[in-house]
Amino acid sequence: MMKLLLRHLLSTTLFIAGTVFAGGDYIRPPPRKTLSFPWDQKPSSQPQQVHISLAGDKHMRVTWVTNDGASPSIVEYGTSPEKYSATAQGESTKYSYLLYSSGKIHHTVIGPLQENTTYFYKCGGEGPEFQLKTPPSKFPVTFAVAGDLGQTGWTKSTLDHIDQCKYDVHLLPGDLSYADYLQHRWDTFGQLVQPLASSRPWMVTQGNHEKESIPFLKDGFVSYNSRWKMPFEESGSASNLYYSFDVAGVHFVMLGSYTPYDEYSDQYSWLKADLLKVDRRRTPWLVVLFHVPWYNSNRAHQGEGDDMMSSMEHLLYAAGVDIVFTGHVHAYERTKRVYNGKSDRCGAVHITIGDGGNREGLAHWYKQPPPEWSVFREASFGHGELKMVNSTHAYWSWHRNEDDESVQSDQVWLTSLIGSGCNTGGGSHDMRRILMAS
Ligand SMILES: *[C@@H]1O[C@H](CO)[C@@H](O)[C@H](O)[C@H]1NC(C)=O
Ligand SMILES: *[C@@H]1O[C@H](CO)[C@@H](O)[C@H](O)[C@H]1NC(C)=O
Repeated sequence: MMKLLLRHLLSTTLFIAGTVFAGGDYIRPPPRKTLSFPWDQKPSSQPQQVHISLAGDKHMRVTWVTNDGASPSIVEYGTSPEKYSATAQGESTKYSYLLYSSGKIHHTVIGPLQENTTYFYKCGGEGPEFQLKTPPSKFPVTFAVAGDLGQTGWTKSTLDHIDQCKYDVHLLPGDLSYADYLQHRWDTFGQLVQPLASSRPWMVTQGNHEKESIPFLKDGFVSYNSRWKMPFEESGSASNLYYSFDVAGVHFVMLGSYTPYDEYSDQYSWLKADLLKVDRRRTPWLVVLFHVPWYNSNRAHQGEGDDMMSSMEHLLYAAGVDIVFTGHVHAYERTKRVYNGKSDRCGAVHITIGDGGNREGLAHWYKQPPPEWSVFREASFGHGELKMVNSTHAYWSWHRNEDDESVQSDQVWLTSLIGSGCNTGGGSHDMRRILMAS
């Protein structure tokens, strides 16, 4: 009886707190504590923090850390357990940051790999065997999307939910570890995500928490670039901070909100060249990710994306980008197709999904009334799933951590711009003209 009463009191208090914060009928959960990790003393040559990423057509990059500097950068792999039919030799790097020295960070590209196939692999000739599945080369293909992860109880909940869904590739629009200058937190983040990131490719781009620059002492992105090497060389980019890749019939462009994007920047020229190469007959869907949203009706981070938007939005529009994913704002928002600040049937759908679970908590306050382009907005932790069904139809759903993985708080069928009469596809003359002129 006492217990019941207590529970009732507690939930009433929570409910009131929730109402005050959100002004809605849903109880907003408070932030959860940063997880603490007991130091796990492993032999120094044992692979840690294993994660994989796509590395050009039919190839995958395996990344891991060892404390032992003599440990080799080799990956043995094959399609049956403990029977490795191939071995690949990679490279390694390390970095120091003030008083911290990283372990040996290994990057080894394996392949060519068969599509939609499970591989078994071992890193550095030691330690446990890992398993990965390559994405399919044709539709359907499914992506899990979650940004601003961090390493709290909510992060764990988001990852557990993602683990329950069937997906091929994880997309992360910036803000990974929330290490925030404390380098060992990059190591604990690597350990936290290993079960998922060692089995499906994680394709990430940088957020403000990756920057970690110190004036006159440290350039930005040292830890991020050393640990999360993405296929920039494979996509003709000079920087790990922007690159592109294809999965099945989707071309993804990963941009950097924290590296120059003005029309004289390398990123701008690279983006233009990359968009010109897109062949919509081969990749009918065109999807872009970066960290700071351009369309955001949350009070948090208002206007921070404006400069990048005024520099680059016309390029994305000319190329007929279907979907843009961003993070930064710790909440969820989905727009109509938009361009130039208003809804536009030839623009992209923008989805802010910076609600992965970091220690800073949720962004509760919204502008009122909502702009005409905002369709759905809510401050809750969660993740998204994007299922590309075929060349014209994709199913998007957003799942709150508070619910079962199977519960979809927002869902919508998206149709691609090809066949819409808008600028897209097959190196159309219009697209070429607009992109060349800009
Ligand atoms: C991938 O493999 C699974 C089972 O192994 C199969 O059900 C699915 O149809 C395959 N997907 C594609 C696109 O080939
Ligand atoms: C694509 O998928 C949608 C949704 O399942 C379906 O209605 C449509 O007919 C499909 N299109 C083709 C060309 O298969």
